Amino acid sequence: MASFAGFVAILAASSVAHASLVDLLFSVPNTYPTLTACAQEPLTYSCENTTTIKNTCCSPTPGGLVLQTQFWSTYTGLEGKGQVLPKNSWTIHGLWPDNCDGSFESYCDLKRQYDPSPSPATLPGNITVPKYKGPGVDTFIKEFKRVDLLDYMEKYWINQGDTNAVFWAHEFSKHATCTSTFDLACYGPGYKKNQDVIDFFDATVRAFKMYPTYDMLAAYGIVPSNKTTYSLSQIQTALKSQTGALPYLGCSKNGTVLSEVWYFHHVLGSEQFGHYKTLDTTTKSSCSNSTGIHYYERSKGSEREVRLLP
Ligand SMILES: *[C@@H]1O[C@H](CO)[C@@H](O)[C@H](O)[C@H]1NC(C)=O
Ligand SMILES: *[C@@H]1O[C@H](CO)[C@@H](O)[C@H](O)[C@H]1NC(C)=O
Ligand SMILES: *[C@@H]1O[C@H](CO)[C@@H](O)[C@H](O)[C@H]1NC(C)=O
Ligand SMILES: *[C@@H]1O[C@H](CO)[C@@H](O)[C@H](O)[C@H]1NC(C)=O
Ligand SMILES: *[C@@H]1O[C@H](CO)[C@@H](O)[C@H](O)[C@H]1NC(C)=O
Repeated sequence: MASFAGFVAILAASSVAHASLVDLLFSVPNTYPTLTACAQEPLTYSCENTTTIKNTCCSPTPGGLVLQTQFWSTYTGLEGKGQVLPKNSWTIHGLWPDNCDGSFESYCDLKRQYDPSPSPATLPGNITVPKYKGPGVDTFIKEFKRVDLLDYMEKYWINQGDTNAVFWAHEFSKHATCTSTFDLACYGPGYKKNQDVIDFFDATVRAFKMYPTYDMLAAYGIVPSNKTTYSLSQIQTALKSQTGALPYLGCSKNGTVLSEVWYFHHVLGSEQFGHYKTLDTTTKSSCSNSTGIHYYERSKGSEREVRLLP
């Protein structure tokens, strides 16, 4: 603390330490959209009265069935590089703009394509999604000095088989470019390059924090175990009784290994700041309802405690 204060004092006293340098070092640019025009719009949940939504910066349109998606995996494949999973937590997959009927579009703005290995690689109309070869989206976050956001994402938004930043880029370019409230036009004439990317990452983290899946399940006695299994209805009941709606549960290995959860919503207001109303899943669970489901413990060395240190 003393050394920090000393540093500031030196800066303030130095002839080069005029206001602009101090601003440059200690200010963080804003990344929110310009929503002043939304004050004139009628309030309605996305997908519930789409004829009223004229300004698509104010409500996700189309793409108003919003999914906060999470993974449960037991390893990353990059443990040797220190990429491990957060103890006692599921991980972020993304924030998806499904159409009201459950269908969805991908890679809606190829000028904002930062995914090195697009999937799908081809869009309807035989349009090829170009492979991105530029700097990782983690460098965008650093340019906006969002050390706090980057730190959280490195803890909770974890990839399997490749670096985390590649996964974040995929989620942004595939999904956020199809979410109207992150359109470039929503940021007004003062748009700063990649402001929308940071804004999407912030919104995704906010939505993820609404659903501490690990803790919700543990509170119902459902904890990872390599010795026992749980029934689908046991897991569904636990989550429904806390969120008010039935999420989608995804299982691998022919429906026997729990691996995913998707929470469904309509949103009142923007996807960034609006109110998320939980809804039952529109997709049938891929987990077996006739056999026990494994909720496996993480592999040794594949997780770490992330809650102790900043
Ligand atoms: C939808 O919004 C329009 C205009 O805001 C309104 O006239 C209409 O009654 C609304 N419909 C429903 C079903 O709420
Ligand atoms: C799609 O485009 C590729 C090259 O861009 C071409 O080789 C292929 O024949 C096209 N496929 C169809 C179904 O049009
Ligand atoms: C997969 O699960 C279904 C339904 O539980 C079962 O009928 C089928 O035999 C299973 N297939 C394999 C390869 O285990
Ligand atoms: C269990 O799954 C089968 C096959 O998908 C389905 O027909 C049945 O309705 C399900 N039962 C319950 C209780 O959900
Ligand atoms: C639990 O089982 C899974 C699946 O076989 C395995 O990947 C994992 O390493 C096991 N964890 C422990 C702690 O044994």
